[in-house]
Amino acid sequence: MSNIPEIKPGQSLELLKELHILTRDGKLNQDTRRKLKQVYHLYQFIEPLLKDTTDDSKGSVLVDHGAGKSYLGFILYDLFFKGKDKGQVIGIEFRPELIQKSKDLANKLGFHKMKFLNDTVANSISSSEIPARVDIVTALHACDSATDDAIKFGLEKKAKYMVLVPCCQAELAGVLRKVKGKSMGKTLTEIFRHPIHTREFGSHLTNVLRCLELESKGYQVTVTELIGWEHSMKNELIIAEYKNLPGEHARKRLEAIIHEFGLEEMKERFIQDRSVIPGPG
Ligand SMILES: C[S@@+](CC[C@H](N)C(=O)[O-])C[C@H]1O[C@@H](n2cnc3c(N)ncnc32)[C@H](O)[C@@H]1O
Repeated sequence: MSNIPEIKPGQSLELLKELHILTRDGKLNQDTRRKLKQVYHLYQFIEPLLKDTTDDSKGSVLVDHGAGKSYLGFILYDLFFKGKDKGQVIGIEFRPELIQKSKDLANKLGFHKMKFLNDTVANSISSSEIPARVDIVTALHACDSATDDAIKFGLEKKAKYMVLVPCCQAELAGVLRKVKGKSMGKTLTEIFRHPIHTREFGSHLTNVLRCLELESKGYQVTVTELIGWEHSMKNELIIAEYKNLPGEHARKRLEAIIHEFGLEEMKERFIQDRSVIPGPG
């Protein structure tokens, strides 16, 4: 038990040291205190979703894409899964050295309901190592189009919740760069004429299309700000909950935006023609 007030009862001090939230001598300094605050800030969004997908008969299954050092997975496990006999946290990451480190740390801490797969987000959709039912999908700063693959994964697995903090999506900006020359007559092109605006607007438009994609599949989407997370500039937090809502309006909007901006080559990324609208299994 720690005598540091910010540390919750039962929290693993060993984990907090491994994550450099506690210093080697078990203390918080100004920097690490801020880091811990950020962790709790994110946890406050995810804890209700974990509670909602956990009951006496089953534990929540959470898949974290582009896990990196699995910072998020470890924290969620420590704060929520550790005291329960069901549930699972699965980290997907294509850098083998990070997967090995996470496996070693989970073993050391006795976090046996954690699993780490050395794979791409896209390949993990068909991985036999992932259960058919996934309740929550997270992707925090998963690079570029990995967020889109995480959305596909969530749709395929009929996840009830998706929690996404997109990173540097450059693909759509590249397409905008190509089309702006052809549509210079259009007044709206001014929104992304300057190169910095092309990049920023491309990133913004990508997230708009992601939200519409989720809404077109029956999800309710909330977009908010994840303040101060790792000092990143990319702090847009998208939380989607499957509610079986009608998606036709969002689907029409999605198609119209793609058409109006001349982004036809991106259509497949955001519109998947499946006759079955997914929902939690
Ligand atoms: C910026 S880091 C974020 C790590 C972690 N989610 C966090 O917020 O601390 C992005 C991670 O995603 C991994 N990654 C990027 N694209 C991926 C993909 N397509 N499949 C699997 N991992 C990917 C990278 O190797 C990197 O470790």
